Amino acid sequence: MPKINSVPKHIAFIMDGNGRWAAKRMLPRNVGHREGVKALRRIIRHCSSIGVSVASFYAFSTENWKRPKEEVDALFEMVKHFVDNELERHAREGIKLRFMGDIDALPAELAQRICKAQSVTENNTGLVCNIGLNYGARQEMVRCVNGLLARGVKEIGESDITEGLDTYGLPDPDLIIRTSGEMRLSNFMLWQSAYSELFFTDTLWPDFKAKEMDYIISRFNRRERRYGAVKGGDKDEK
Ligand code: FPP
Repeated sequence: MPKINSVPKHIAFIMDGNGRWAAKRMLPRNVGHREGVKALRRIIRHCSSIGVSVASFYAFSTENWKRPKEEVDALFEMVKHFVDNELERHAREGIKLRFMGDIDALPAELAQRICKAQSVTENNTGLVCNIGLNYGARQEMVRCVNGLLARGVKEIGESDITEGLDTYGLPDPDLIIRTSGEMRLSNFMLWQSAYSELFFTDTLWPDFKAKEMDYIISRFNRRERRYGAVKGGDKDEK
């Protein structure tokens, strides 16, 4: 029997729709991103309060460099602000901050703050908040394989890759939620999502709230995850 009220261990979010949220209100895109940060804080708090172990968020992809420089700069400023200003709160709430992506290729000041935030919260035992920044799953795999080659590994097994990715030590996402109606993974956690349940909602990220997340979790709990085996059938609503 699928459990009705169980909380997924790891939920990953593709936070999409900030730009459209702003456009609908004839506001600049960065206002949409600012509202997106508010939604991010809200969802982190909610994940923490219902006992999710890991929450991953796609904040900036390796492809997002193609955006206008002002937008990229504004996003990085928001990340800096988020990392600095929330550090104390995260420490108090026991949240552990982790980042995945090519952090070394980010502007040096931002990369340093990220390293500091990771080390300050390293021993926290609450929610792991894992943020994808300058992240692309294919590039993550390439970095992982190059790391293995550099260590002289001759034959690569699944566990070498799992342990060599930026998510080493974290469980795979049980559930991936993408907002704004797009139905694709866009180079997000491709290795880790092999058995993840995928949910897509038309809600734009700045409008995404705890209530909808709880509804998605209740739908998730009605799905039967078979991992390639055969018993039962798909219990999801049609
Ligand atoms: C996608 O919306 C969203 C992003 C590329 C950025 C997500 C970033 C945040 C929510 C804030 C920054 C993160 C942190 C960690 C503080 P879009 O701009 O592609 O929206 P659109 O598809 O409607 O144009």
